Amino acid sequence: MKNNMILIGYMGCGKSTIGRRLAKILDMPFIDTDAWIEEKEGVTISEIFAAQGENSFRDMETKCLKTLIEESDSEPDSVKDNDEGISEEVNGRKGSVISVGGGLPVREENQKLLRQLGQVFYLKAMPDTIFERIKGDTTRPLLQTENPLQKIKEMMLFRETKYQAAAQKVIVVDEKSIDQIVDEIIKLWQEN
Ligand code: S3P
Repeated sequence: MKNNMILIGYMGCGKSTIGRRLAKILDMPFIDTDAWIEEKEGVTISEIFAAQGENSFRDMETKCLKTLIEESDSEPDSVKDNDEGISEEVNGRKGSVISVGGGLPVREENQKLLRQLGQVFYLKAMPDTIFERIKGDTTRPLLQTENPLQKIKEMMLFRETKYQAAAQKVIVVDEKSIDQIVDEIIKLWQEN
């Protein structure tokens, strides 16, 4: 399995914030699939949904995973300076922390690709926690509805089995600080 740490979970569960923090602490690069797609396409996620529809966006997510897998395969072994300042090859490739869009694990094909890409951590939150965090946000097209809390509940119910199928580890994030969640993930990561 590749040496990447992958964070999945519903919109607003903290994947990007926690992912960035983990990447800093573990000295690994950070990749966010939404940002990756926006950069490749040169437009925002909202614009992709409006102009091309959700299905096209989902195809872009699958393409993103396949590209990241290819890139991990071709990455050279990492090189590190030793105490005497001499470069040494480190055993094994250095992975990235990868935070993925909330809907990406829904496709069965993507669940397999995620596991191929690395170790998958599911950040699990209650609908109320999510609602408190994302209310007022206008960047997530799927939540621009009359009753976002109801929509969150329905989508989470539908997605739960998909997240569970994709993940190796589940971390409950409700009522925990970012530091607590980060510590928990690092412990689980180091157990492997
Ligand atoms: C989506 C989640 C978003 C983004 C898009 C669709 C979803 O990512 O990919 O708006 O279907 O749950 P975040 O989970 O990073 O907000």
